[in-house]
Amino acid sequence: MAKISVIGAGNVGATTVQRLAELELGEIVMVDVVDGLPQGKALDLMQAGAIKDYDTQILGSNDYSNIENSDLVIITAGIARKPGMSREDLIKTNSKIVAEISKNIAKYAPKSIVINVTNPLDIMTYVAMKSTGFEATKVFGMSGVLDSGRFASFIAEELECSKKDVQAMVIGGHGDLMIPLPKYSAVSGIPLIDLLPGDKISRLVERTVNGGAEIVGLLKQGSAFYAPSSAIVSMTEAVIKDSKRVLPACAYLEGQYGQEGIYFGVPVKLGASGVEEIFELKLDQGQYKILRKSSEAIRKIISQMEA
Ligand code: NAI
Ligand code: 2OP
Repeated sequence: MAKISVIGAGNVGATTVQRLAELELGEIVMVDVVDGLPQGKALDLMQAGAIKDYDTQILGSNDYSNIENSDLVIITAGIARKPGMSREDLIKTNSKIVAEISKNIAKYAPKSIVINVTNPLDIMTYVAMKSTGFEATKVFGMSGVLDSGRFASFIAEELECSKKDVQAMVIGGHGDLMIPLPKYSAVSGIPLIDLLPGDKISRLVERTVNGGAEIVGLLKQGSAFYAPSSAIVSMTEAVIKDSKRVLPACAYLEGQYGQEGIYFGVPVKLGASGVEEIFELKLDQGQYKILRKSSEAIRKIISQMEA
């Protein structure tokens, strides 16, 4: 039976555990620094099994030794930006948290696959790879499935059709410079660009890029977690079932898209050994320009962090 550990028992972490438990994908350990929080949520989720008909074992803990021999570890721990905090402060705080967690993953679950979720995503996934010391194909980040899901949802809404028939693709960094790709989006194989006029597609693209911020604006505190946890579960299933799904993920580039040594959102094949292949898409000049701007920003932060 697979063992899956989720670090962080906050909104994203606990909702991910709930969705995983309902699928009976394996035993689950949920770790958080706050005393009682993972234990209380685990107990609640265990009791839900008697009502929702699942037998998944869920352990809540403050002790990393409980993640021992996990097949997969999902990092959702960190802080969100508070008033008066700069983006730099967030990077400093979360990189310390992610580095500490990653060292514990390397110690207790040295053969695991790691999915990082903590923001800023592209940077924290790099920190997780460096601090675990794992091969880059075994450490990757979740954002593209979420951003593509948001794009697909807006497309379905605009076309008044089922979300089940929409395939959307968003690549790039998880932020203002993400790159939704209408050319690689379709409804049951019918290209999106044949279904909607350019100005309508541009509005959906813009809403997708602001997708996370739109929810933060409505919630006033905290950020999205229902769609993010669904996206994490899709990636987890691909790894645990070795299903070779082709999904966008934040993967380590070694020459692809003209980039080297950074994590970036691209379509990949996901299986039991992690990122098994990276697919290179043909982009237009404007998209390449955004890609270069975004990768330069990521590279600058990494070199400042490592200085
Ligand atoms: P939250 O505040 O609800 O939960 C974070 C949890 O991390 C808290 O329970 C906190 O106690 C815990 N934590 C802090 N330091 C820790 C440590 N050293 N070890 C273990 N646990 C620790 O936040 P939420 O909404 O769950 O978001 C978590 C992270 O995921 C944030 O960085 C957020 O920006 C990011 N996120 C990323 C998305 C993506 O697409 N990549 C989507 C949604 C959220
Ligand atoms: C989101 O896109 C906060 O990254 C998170 O909702």
